[in-house]
Amino acid sequence: MADKKTLTVDIGGSGIKAMLLDMEGNPIGGRVRVRTPRPAKPEAVLKGITKLTKKHPDFDRVSVGFPGVIRKGVTETAVNLHRDWVGFDLEGTLSERLGKPVRVLNDADIQGFGAISGNGVELVVTLGTGFGSALFLDGQLVPNLEIAHHRFRNSRTYEEHLGSAALKKTGKKKWQQRVAEAIASLEHLFNYDTLYIGGGNARRLTLDLPSNVKIIPNIAGLLGGIALWRE
Ligand code: BGC
Repeated sequence: MADKKTLTVDIGGSGIKAMLLDMEGNPIGGRVRVRTPRPAKPEAVLKGITKLTKKHPDFDRVSVGFPGVIRKGVTETAVNLHRDWVGFDLEGTLSERLGKPVRVLNDADIQGFGAISGNGVELVVTLGTGFGSALFLDGQLVPNLEIAHHRFRNSRTYEEHLGSAALKKTGKKKWQQRVAEAIASLEHLFNYDTLYIGGGNARRLTLDLPSNVKIIPNIAGLLGGIALWRE
């Protein structure tokens, strides 16, 4: 197989990040970032991605992690971006614009690919603007698991209790207690072998975690992009 370079892009609630990966998924050069435009409508976000490609122009294909449900390259939800994303052909539009093949997957699913071992039931949650979730069985992804908008406690959802807005509002101490409660609740539901916690706010956790729970670096959200091109 020819030596292809993958530009991996992570569209987040506060920043759009990108990095270049070699065939093995190792980074080539550093991470680049632009702020997520507000309002985060498709055209503005696409402009941001195009800007990032200028900093790493030497790519052959693109992987994009998107914060919503994806079906066949089309974005179906985007709670933390803009409602104009509902029904948007991100894969097709970006591919046409860049003249390169593009694959799009949910951001937490990509984060998971960058972290899992491939053994047993592995659950991944991400703590950032939103609450991401991804489920794998022996390395196979169960796509579009969306825990974020499910009720967690007091008729509020996981995302309402654990997203960045909640962390800011309630403070780190209370937020961490909620994270511990969420872990207990998810363990009962999924009986996972391993739970990985990623996302920008994972580094704020100072809890004593059970031995089957691991914190993963946020960079996994970019490194996992190589998995989209595995045969
Ligand atoms: C979205 C998920 C996404 C998560 C993290 C949630 O609001 O519904 O699809 O993975 O935020 O970005």
